[in-house]
Amino acid sequence: MRYSTFTARREFLKFLAASPYVAALGGVAAYLQQSAFAQNTQEASDVIAGPANAFDVFDFEEAAHRKVQPAHWAYMASGVDDDATLHANREGFKHIELRPRRLRDATKVDMRVELFGTVYDSPIFLCPTGSEKSFYPDGELAVARAAKARGTLQILSTSTTTAVEDVNKALSRPVWYQLYAPSSWEACEKILRRVEAAGCSVIALTVDNTTGRNSETYLRTRPKDLRPCAACHEGEPGTAIKERPMYDGINMTGVQRQNPAMDWAFVDRLRKFWQGKLIIKGMDTREDARLCVEHGIDGMLVSNHGGRATETLRATI
Ligand SMILES: Cc1cc2nc3c(=O)[nH]c(=O)nc-3n(C[C@H](O)[C@H](O)[C@H](O)COP(=O)(O)O)c2cc1C
Repeated sequence: MRYSTFTARREFLKFLAASPYVAALGGVAAYLQQSAFAQNTQEASDVIAGPANAFDVFDFEEAAHRKVQPAHWAYMASGVDDDATLHANREGFKHIELRPRRLRDATKVDMRVELFGTVYDSPIFLCPTGSEKSFYPDGELAVARAAKARGTLQILSTSTTTAVEDVNKALSRPVWYQLYAPSSWEACEKILRRVEAAGCSVIALTVDNTTGRNSETYLRTRPKDLRPCAACHEGEPGTAIKERPMYDGINMTGVQRQNPAMDWAFVDRLRKFWQGKLIIKGMDTREDARLCVEHGIDGMLVSNHGGRATETLRATI
């Protein structure tokens, strides 16, 4: 199946290369560069066959692209509106310079960080991403095993496809739990009690994605024929509550999974209710940082949701 897709792609590239229209536009390379979703022109033999072959993390990208279902890839790789914030995020790193200080005994490099009493081996952590089973069959459990092996912090999404209890077991310690606060407080409280019972002491309330997203690129690039999706999904792909174990046992009839009416009064209520650490994910301005401090929040994840929520053009970095 994968081979035939690849062959078809090669045929398509050959066709493009011969096309006078494409030549007029600057050739195949220029055409592919314009299209974020065109497969990389890498030869199959250049694509890593396993993690050990990777020189850097971006070597995983094309390998994943070739393995993950096209509709799932379209969901993962797309931003909102014109994808300009998504691109700005990566571009932003190119403007960060490092000032190296020398002669500091580099035999004792220590990357460990302590956060809320737990020591992690690296300051790099695993963001919450929903639906991890749609990218790899073991989903969140595979991520937990990787996080355990590397002593890394894992944040688990409310849109997880694996129950928090099972993920904590695989990780051998509790995840930080990313909260999408439903529009009913009762539903929210039930999720929080479950998360607390699972041993989690840190929650990250995501606040940048409460009004829905205009995922143009996803809608444009996912396959047109969604009938095969019915084999796994009920209704519109990705929308079924049944696929999200964190809503098990909660009556979500008439309840929105994310609450567009959320405000600072909600944060205060949550602050009062949640006895553990509470951080906010998705703040992007100094004004909101100040408000976090004033409302007794324990930390902030500066984030624009990977350019997947609002087209602000402001790179997270
Ligand atoms: C496929 C995918 C799914 C995501 N799902 C969630 C989610 O369920 N909850 C959440 O808070 N953030 C989610 N995010 C956003 C990430 O946690 C993270 O913020 C982003 O990838 C990195 O951008 P940043 O540096 O602006 O935070 C998702 C991102 C991707 C790519």
